[in-house]
Amino acid sequence: MKITVPATSANLGPGFDSVGIAVSKYLTIEVLEPSEKWEVLHDLDGVPNDENNLLIATALSVCSELRPHRVKMVSDVPLARGLGSSSSVIVAGIALANELGQLHLSKEEMLAIATKEEGHPDNVAPAIFGQLVVSSYVDGKVSHVVAKFPETALIAFIPNYELKTSDSRRVLPSEFAYKEAVSASSIANVALAALLTGDLVTAGKAIEADLFHERFRQQLVKEFAPIKAAAHELGAYATYLSGAGPTIMVLAPKDKETAIFECLIALQLDGEVVSLNIDPQGLVIE
Ligand code: HSE
Repeated sequence: MKITVPATSANLGPGFDSVGIAVSKYLTIEVLEPSEKWEVLHDLDGVPNDENNLLIATALSVCSELRPHRVKMVSDVPLARGLGSSSSVIVAGIALANELGQLHLSKEEMLAIATKEEGHPDNVAPAIFGQLVVSSYVDGKVSHVVAKFPETALIAFIPNYELKTSDSRRVLPSEFAYKEAVSASSIANVALAALLTGDLVTAGKAIEADLFHERFRQQLVKEFAPIKAAAHELGAYATYLSGAGPTIMVLAPKDKETAIFECLIALQLDGEVVSLNIDPQGLVIE
């Protein structure tokens, strides 16, 4: 059995803790033979190989009776970079429990479990469903809508340093004035409506007008301002902090992709520039 889960890019500016897209980097789990105890084969530094591995811990939290197996874990989703690496492992763990424990969970039920585990649905939802997913998690209840993401280039700059979500959340305010919240929410509404109707120019402006988190976090990612300026110069729709960062995502017309990609390389920043695609299907079990 093989479980594949895509990476994800959350927030898209004002869709804080609510909006995410699935992108073309992948975690793959291959379930090998039953074994005396759980063993996770991988080549990731500092990641446990036994039942303390997040994959197995999640699977056992869903179904404690699972028979131990050897599993092979391969991932090109970089850790602590704002591309949903832990969400992809959580989703894979739930899928592993679902298959080995024959639990017959639907994708909606998996989303409820994954959201509870992660605390917000913006990464786990697109990891499960693919495409663009808009969701809410209020009073323990998850609602979600899956939608097709409009045709754009997605160019990511992935810095060579990690930024833990907890550190990136620490710089956020603990309270938000009512009037400001209304403004921030209206910007998010416009961003979403524009994305769903394919008006990428309006969407881009609203994405960059976020009031919820980016203005507080930009100080943590020094590459953000120069990349945003360069991308604008070349006709990008928007530049946003992917999830809690530090990855920076540029949305642009397809015919501007090569120029923006080459320009970001030419900036010679400490990190990797990659062109991504939207993943259309999310979690796949074969
Ligand atoms: N919405 C989350 C954040 C994504 O921005 O903190 C990272 O888990």
